[in-house]
Amino acid sequence: MSVLTSHQLLDGKRASDAIRREIAAKALEVKAARGRPPHLAAVLVGSDGASQTYVESKVKACDGVGFRSTLIRLPETISEEELLSRVKQLNKDKELDGFIVQLPLPSHIDADRITLAIDPAKDVDGFHPVNVGNMVLGLPGFLPATPSGICELLRHYSIATVGKHCVVVGRSNIVGTPMSILMGRNAYPGNCTVTLAHSRTVDLPAITRQADILIVAIGKPGFITADMVKEGAVVVDVGIHRIPDATRKSGFRLMGDVQFDAVAPKCSAITPVPGGVGPMTITSLLLNTLKACLL
Ligand code: GUN
Repeated sequence: MSVLTSHQLLDGKRASDAIRREIAAKALEVKAARGRPPHLAAVLVGSDGASQTYVESKVKACDGVGFRSTLIRLPETISEEELLSRVKQLNKDKELDGFIVQLPLPSHIDADRITLAIDPAKDVDGFHPVNVGNMVLGLPGFLPATPSGICELLRHYSIATVGKHCVVVGRSNIVGTPMSILMGRNAYPGNCTVTLAHSRTVDLPAITRQADILIVAIGKPGFITADMVKEGAVVVDVGIHRIPDATRKSGFRLMGDVQFDAVAPKCSAITPVPGGVGPMTITSLLLNTLKACLL
């Protein structure tokens, strides 16, 4: 017999608003002490619609907390060498605390080479191997924004993690892999027994059903169904997809990697889409920028 639990919504918008108020207060202090607020630059290559939306939200979030922001739009046709030289300029710019190069990059550019060229002290995305290494070793550095935002959300709602089985679905460098490291660390949130599941995992539903904490970053709309989730699980949905919907004025609705309506009644807590992980990711980028400014 299945026991229905009432679920708590892990509201990333609310948690973000609270954290961003603290960031805004710190930004004022920085401005008073140094004559300028923290400053983030975002590099956008080409005109991919989703990337444009993400970058614009990051710039808007900077304005919202009193940071300075610079959006650098570069043409799709830019060469790898030209982009590398822009990165080197940004590394040297003393008026700039941190910057990001929005991914994905056009296929003629080697994204790894670009990431390697970013000064680790300005790498507020936490993608440079020095920052990834520091994360793995538990040393100070920049944590990648999405996994770090998920940790902040779990902390904000005091979700118990010690000794829990955390299943992460998806092994990307940006989300799944770092998430699995952070949840296994001897810290809070952390101290989980972690399983990192991916496209080659055999009998994935049997694995996800063991999860006390299920973090899904697979990039497939509605991939996680109710039968894949244990009663009482905490579910974190990293996916965000535009689904055509003629009944909406916009012509689409947003959906995550989890079938929210079917899964939520089984959960003790779950993130909505939108308004769950998304706002927390941007808040983490702001926190990293503040940290870079104070280095
Ligand atoms: N593309 C998708 N997520 C991210 C992110 O967090 N940072 C950058 N730079 N690109 C992305």
